[in-house]
Amino acid sequence: MRTISIQKHSKPFNLECSDIAPDKSISHRCAMFSLLSDETSTIKNFLLGEDTLSSLSIAEQLGATVFRNGSDITITPPKKLSEPDNILDCGNAGTGMRLYAGLLAGIEGSFILTGDKYLRSRPMNRVAIPLRDIGAKIDGREDGNLAPLTIRGGTLNSFRYNSPIDSAQVKSALILAGLQADKKSFYKENLLSRDHTERMLRGMGATIRTDKDGWIEIEPLKKPLKPLNITVPADPSSGFFFAVASAITPNSKSIIKNVTLNPTRIEAYKILEKMGANISFVEKENIYEPIGDIEISYNGKLSAVTVENNIAWLIDELPALSIAMAVANGTSRVKNAKELRVKESDRISTVLQGLNSCNIETIEHKDGYEVVGGELSSATINSYGDHRIAMSFAIAGVRCGMKINDIACIDTSFPNFFDILSHITNIE
Ligand code: S3P
Repeated sequence: MRTISIQKHSKPFNLECSDIAPDKSISHRCAMFSLLSDETSTIKNFLLGEDTLSSLSIAEQLGATVFRNGSDITITPPKKLSEPDNILDCGNAGTGMRLYAGLLAGIEGSFILTGDKYLRSRPMNRVAIPLRDIGAKIDGREDGNLAPLTIRGGTLNSFRYNSPIDSAQVKSALILAGLQADKKSFYKENLLSRDHTERMLRGMGATIRTDKDGWIEIEPLKKPLKPLNITVPADPSSGFFFAVASAITPNSKSIIKNVTLNPTRIEAYKILEKMGANISFVEKENIYEPIGDIEISYNGKLSAVTVENNIAWLIDELPALSIAMAVANGTSRVKNAKELRVKESDRISTVLQGLNSCNIETIEHKDGYEVVGGELSSATINSYGDHRIAMSFAIAGVRCGMKINDIACIDTSFPNFFDILSHITNIE
């Protein structure tokens, strides 16, 4: 098990981050959506993290030809996606497994999706049930809820589905199924979840419209889509660790360069701003989505905040935001966040356990928690194999020193995290 020690560093820093990891959600989708074209897709700045490399290798197992030059890749789809001769390993990636389930449900053949021990314990019913309802044959442990999932792909019926959860993974799986269904399908969620799928597929020529009531209309594909030609922007969820570091270190500042400014992805920065940090967003271009820089600077001690709306827009950043809450004035509250329980770890439990080890008082609720602001003290943290827990407490370490066990998981999403962190503090 890899362990790391972060040294306390209270001196100001000024960080220009032009090498934050490329966006994980967009990279997964690049690997998968390129299979819906009949031409070669060109992807620059693909995330070379374990999760997205798993999705890329599944694309190859399905018959695609992939050329890689560092993080620049081309993906040439096969004439017809073929049944692989082995199981398909999604690693730690819920996005990989759930989106591939939707894609493969409509393809003739037999497929087995599996993953690491953490992914094999995460719920898959959220995609398996609606996909089965439209004719997909999906099975797995616990009545098809747990991977390994077996999928026998084939003809899919159109659907009208009002999702009980605001999840981009569920939405994307159903959109991919809808593109292969017999007739037009409709999907609705209560709060718009991250919409990379709609934006990218529309850019590739798919007919996906959203009406005024939020119903997404999906036309089945009549011909292959145009190929992708994209430079993946930086991942705002990865950049957010350094945003928190600057917001809690006096006289410090970070600029996260070339990051997606998609409104469904930057809500956590807005919460940090509400807590008192100085934050500015500068849009520079729009390729599939708005892209630009985010500047974050220290502006005095943060104030407590209640987070209860638009939870899907900041779900991945809540562990890092909790570090900011731990050093803010007052008690912060997180509500309506039961989805945290089924992420790479049960993040309500792992965040609170970590904060308690650092002498921060917390109160746990079924679907949220409270953090009583105080001063973090040095501790030894178990990541429970969850990359965002490991990185959040590494950032807390800048403030008070920290030892973190089981850090290999960071490679799933942000392989150069410690290279960037080493500009701020010493790491052993
Ligand atoms: C993701 C969607 C989110 C997010 C995950 C990536 C995606 O999950 O937490 O890290 O790429 O679609 P849900 O859609 O399950 O909320």
